[in-house]
Amino acid sequence: MTNGCRHFRSDPPRIGILGGGQLGRMTALAAIRMGVSVRTLSPESSAPVEGLGESMTGDWTRTEVLESFAGGCDVITVESEWAPADLAARIVGPDIPVLPRPRTLEQIRHKGVQKDLLLQAGIPQAPYRRCESIEEAQQAAAELGYPVVLKKYQGSYDGYGNALANSESEIRSLWPLLSGPDGILVEGWIDFKREIATLVARRPGGEGVIYPLVDTIQRDHRCHAVLAPGSSDSEITSRARDLAVRCAEAVDSVGILGVELFETRDGSVLVNELAPRPHNTGHYTIEACHTSQFENHVRAILDWPLGNPDLIVDAAVMVNILGRSDSKVSLESIPDALQEHSGSIHIYGKTDSRPGRKMGHVTVTASDTESARRYAESIVSRILI
Ligand SMILES: Nc1ncnc2c1ncn2[C@@H]1O[C@H](COP(=O)(O)OP(=O)(O)OP(=O)(O)O)[C@@H](O)[C@H]1O
Ligand SMILES: [Mg+2]
Repeated sequence: MTNGCRHFRSDPPRIGILGGGQLGRMTALAAIRMGVSVRTLSPESSAPVEGLGESMTGDWTRTEVLESFAGGCDVITVESEWAPADLAARIVGPDIPVLPRPRTLEQIRHKGVQKDLLLQAGIPQAPYRRCESIEEAQQAAAELGYPVVLKKYQGSYDGYGNALANSESEIRSLWPLLSGPDGILVEGWIDFKREIATLVARRPGGEGVIYPLVDTIQRDHRCHAVLAPGSSDSEITSRARDLAVRCAEAVDSVGILGVELFETRDGSVLVNELAPRPHNTGHYTIEACHTSQFENHVRAILDWPLGNPDLIVDAAVMVNILGRSDSKVSLESIPDALQEHSGSIHIYGKTDSRPGRKMGHVTVTASDTESARRYAESIVSRILI
């Protein structure tokens, strides 16, 4: 044991990643670059991680599948809060840590549980009610004031699972689409000035680093672009970063914790939601920071010293590449898209495209966010994938 770091059975250490999408892919790439071995497990064949380390496919709710995945791994991580981390932890026992810890994932996975935890920790957030019936949701909306945001408790992402309701009848018609066995989350609508986000990377002992605050631009409740550095003033920036660190402490996160926030028009900062993993709002860090979120996620779960999260460029903008139609993926449009401006292109290796699906992203670095955004949008607008 040196530097207080954990000593692993295998050298190089092997990390197991539950999940095989773009986050697993970029985490695997960062690990492989550092010489760390990677094994992934996905419930269905997962093109983004194929060819990166050892990729396994199998029913990850089955003990024997998890046992054969975990055997020979030194640490297991997840690419999503819905991966079966608790089952994996029970099966592998204390010798192979599952990080972030299953308890952290439990606290974040259910939006009602997450909100209650942040409330107890004194973290400011949008007012909300947990409602078990349509009548309770209508009553909550009357108290909070219309419009309200209805949120599915579990399994929502990229805005699938959220809807704005303006009336009692809209609540009634949205209820069957969004409610689960324990109802629905009703949130007061925040007339925010901007949406902002940051990332905290944290080692098992709590030592951490925090990334710059960025502006995030959503379209259809879904991340479209990320601008670094953000445009909040220094007072808001430092409050947002303090809140993010408090969130990381409240859930005792290990690895990357993505923190989405609102800056309101009256100058307050509210936490919107947490993500216990590398996050779409942190993809810009690959080109724009000393150490990317993916590298720091790997270092954190290995309990290695964390790298510097600061920007190495004046400005960077990331724009997501979304699918536009149901089709097989084609890279034909890419050479032409890259003709005019210089940008880093990331394609996630998915075989099928469909409207709104995240297929890749482009990051452009420049002397200011305005020009970086212009160039990034221009590249992305020419990509038909
Ligand atoms: N209370 C609110 N007031 C105003 N806008 C909101 C509110 N809650 C959510 N939104 C908008 O909807 C977007 C998606 O909401 P949220 O982050 O809760 O959903 P999600 O599906 O988990 O998102 P994702 O996976 O894309 O982060 C937010 O980024 C914001 O633009
Ligand atoms: Mg969100």
